[in-house]
Formats: sequence, C-alpha cells, structure tokens
Amino acid sequence: MPAKLPILGHIGNVRKVEVADPIERATYLARGRHLLMGQRRNRGDVDALLLLGKCIEQTRVSNKFDSNVWLDIHTPHVVFVCGRRGTGKSYDLGILAEGLSLNQQSKVTTKEPPITTVFFDTQSQFWALLEKPDDRLEQDQEQLEQLGQWDIPPNGVPSAQLFSPFGDSTGHRKVIEFAIDPSELDLEDWCGLFDLDIYSPQGQLIRNLLTKVSKDGYSYAQGPSSGPHRKIQPQEEYDLDDLILCLQNDIEVNEKAQRQTRDAVLWKLEALRDSKIFKRGGIDIREVLIPGQLSIFLLRNLDDATKSLVVSVVSKKVFRIMGRYHTERKAAERSTGSMSSDLLGLPPGVWMLIDEAHLICPSDSNTAAKSILIDYVKRGRDAGLSLVLATQQPSAVDSRVVSQVDLLIAHRLVVDADISAALARVPADFPKQVSFGGAKISDRLGLIRALDTGEAWIADAETSRAVLVAMRPRVSAHGGDEPKVV
Ligand SMILES: Nc1ncnc2c1ncn2[C@@H]1O[C@H](COP(=O)(O)OP(=O)(O)O)[C@@H](O)[C@H]1O
Ligand SMILES: [Mg+2]
Repeated sequence: MPAKLPILGHIGNVRKVEVADPIERATYLARGRHLLMGQRRNRGDVDALLLLGKCIEQTRVSNKFDSNVWLDIHTPHVVFVCGRRGTGKSYDLGILAEGLSLNQQSKVTTKEPPITTVFFDTQSQFWALLEKPDDRLEQDQEQLEQLGQWDIPPNGVPSAQLFSPFGDSTGHRKVIEFAIDPSELDLEDWCGLFDLDIYSPQGQLIRNLLTKVSKDGYSYAQGPSSGPHRKIQPQEEYDLDDLILCLQNDIEVNEKAQRQTRDAVLWKLEALRDSKIFKRGGIDIREVLIPGQLSIFLLRNLDDATKSLVVSVVSKKVFRIMGRYHTERKAAERSTGSMSSDLLGLPPGVWMLIDEAHLICPSDSNTAAKSILIDYVKRGRDAGLSLVLATQQPSAVDSRVVSQVDLLIAHRLVVDADISAALARVPADFPKQVSFGGAKISDRLGLIRALDTGEAWIADAETSRAVLVAMRPRVSAHGGDEPKVV
C-alpha cells in the first residue's frame, strides 16, 4: 500500500521570519505543503520519509510557511547536526531516532518497517526514548501541549534496546551488558585508545606484541637467559594479561624497544585492567543488528578514549558484515553466487547516530574511532550505511568526515571558527536577506547567530538554498532536561 502523508496541525507562537529569496529548486508537494529534502532519486516519492519539522519562513514569493519538512531515507545519508550547547542537537538526534524506529501510525515517518539504528549516547540520556511522555509529570506538560498542537500522538519506541558497559550499573530495565574483547582490537584501536601514532616507538611495540601474541607466538627464558625457554603458542583469543606477559618476557621485545617505551606501554595496559569493560566475549553484532531495533549504547560513565573505542569496535563490525551482505546480495540477485548463512536475516541498511562527535572524531588528536569513521562516511553508502554526527564544536571535528556531509542541520552557533567550519561544507546556498522580527540580516554568520532553540537552517544539495525550520516536538520522553537544583 503506498504511503500517505499525514495531516499535521499548524504551529502557533512562531516568531515572524521573512525571507526575501524564493526557494527556486526543491522537491515540494503543494498539496498538503510538504518539502522533501535529501531526495536524490524518484523525486516526489513519499514512502520513506522522516518528519524533521516545519518551515517557519514567511516568503512573499513562494509561501512555504508551515510546510512540513521531511528527510527522504531511500538512500543513505551523512547528516551533520551542529549548534552551541542547549540549542537542540541531542533533541534532533532523538527526532531522527524516533523517525527511524517508529512506523506510519506515529505520523513522524511514512516508511514501513522500522530501520535498524545504532545510537552512541555519550551522555546516557536517550534511554528515555523507550517511554511515552507522562501527563502526570510536570516536565512533560509542555511537550505534550506541543504534540497536541502539531497533532502528533505521543509514543515510546518499543524496539529500543539499551546496552551498557559491563559492570556499569545504570538502574534501567531491559539492558544488555557489553564488554570489549582485547583480542578484537587492531593496531589502530590500540593506538587510538592511547592517542599514539602507529609509527611511534610505542605504536611499533604494540604492533610487535599483537603479532607475537596472535600470529607468531614467542618464547621466553624462565630464569637465566641461557637456561630453558618456554614457548608460548599464538592464540586467536587473548586478553590484557597475555599482552602484558609478552611485553614483560619476550626476549626480542626487550632487546628492540627502549626501556622507556616498554614502561610506557606497560603502564597503559596495566591501567586498563582496572576497567571492567575489557574482557573476553566482546559485543555480539547480531544482537545489535536485529532488523528494526534501535540499539542505544549508554556511554556516559566511560572516559572519552574508551567511548571512541566502543564506537570503533561496533562500527567496524557493522561495516564489515554489512559490506559482505551487500556484495553477496548483489551476486545472489544475479545468480552468480549465494548468500553465506551468517548473513541471512540482516537488515538492508543501518543508521548510526553519534552525539558529541568532536570527542569521538576530533580534528587534533587520534582516537580509536577516527579512521573507521572516515572510511565509513566515504565508503559506507555501498554497504547501506548512514551516519549522523552531532557536535557543539564543528571546528573540532575531523574535516575528512565533515566533507562527506550531504544534509546539514545548523542550530545557533556563536564562535566564528565554528560557524565557518559548519558552513565550509554546506551543500547549498543561504538566503541573501532575512528579517528576524524586523531585524534585517544578510550575512551567513548572522543568520546562524540569530536562531532560537529548536530552530535550524537545514541544507542539502537538492534544495537550492538552506531552509529555516522549527524542529518538531519529540514524541517520546526526553531524558536530556537539565535538573532543577533548588
Ligand atoms: N525542537 C525542540 N522543541 C522543543 N524543545 C526543544 C527543541 N530542541 C531543544 N529543545 C529544548 O532545549 C533543551 C536543550 O536541547 P538539547 O538538544 O539537549 O541541546 P544540545 O544542543 O546541547 O544537545 C532540551 O532539553 C529541550 O527542552
Ligand atoms: Mg546534547
């Protein structure tokens, strides 16, 4: 059955924003006033849309005011959400996660069935996506009122599954605990975790340790070096203690690496022993890639380096298995091959959402996740992979990731360097003159400074210029409120 676009309410209480320039090129359905963004193919198709918000521009030439703004998800996207603290970035991630994970009845999406989504929740606030806003709670009243105005029903996300680090008691129901298996980490992961260059002495020492422990094996003297040697066989699965044992005892390692280098790596490995998260077993990616599931990784209690490591481990697994899935699927469709049994039952596409992306993929230091994310945005489309990054500091995110963005959601920013970084890759123009409640603004910096919370310029390559949007209210409970302390 072809999807129908829902009828939504009108929004009141918006300030008057007049934009002189018309939107010359856009996929716009005048009937019902719908603006479709991110639609590269099959223009006008309405069966895979997520509701982002409403256009709040009052334009004399083409009246798009109060149009519903949708994102088409037929094809993969790289979405960049930016704005200073408290402007609505995390709120937007919630909007996207809801749209991806709910079905048509919710009115916030037209696609069926739900999309498999992996959400790296750096502040552990998105557990609330599971819940409906509660009319008994004071903090949910405004949201419920807004939903009433937009004529959108409140809704929890039943397919949400929480994942929390092993040993981190979160107090939530429905949690799967996960660990990081040291034997699943590659050299990039280790160097990223310790912020090392792969070609530094410490990086090379780690490379040697990994080769010896997992591929070549090694031997060490028990007692005087001229005495009997103990041979340690290589093993596919190993843990921190195996690496430490090799570092402390292998003769070649001890000869080649300087004392200082050995000590530095030893202390780093030993420090990880205190964290309960490093243990055999690791993350079973099939528990994450359940079709239609929204997997939320609650990462707040991990340090930034370990947060990145979790992102790295999960995204590498997703990338690998989804890459194989699509390669084998194409061959199977042309009857030139068949699908391996371990790929059966996988979803066709995956969306990955990352909050506080400047911590995970910074421009000025190495993290475990950096190189996989660069690869993911460059080559992930072929594997059906989409990525959404949110940050308060666009200038601090690696530019190789930002350069792949095809949809920008820009909230209020004030620092020039950040505005420039956000705008450097905007896939469209900005309007030339906008009047915010009578105040005329014509420069792009000013246009981004003038926004209120929940308002954003949304730009893609398919629409001739950025469009001013009031993001829609969330349908599920919002866990990101600042606590009242008096
Ligand atoms: N589109 C919106 N509609 C209504 N309230 C919003 C909207 N966006 C943000 N807010 C409010 O602003 C607060 C801060 O938003 P949040 O997304 O947490 O900011 P940040 O940009 O720091 O991630 C939220 O708790 C919410 O109350
Ligand atoms: Mg936030």
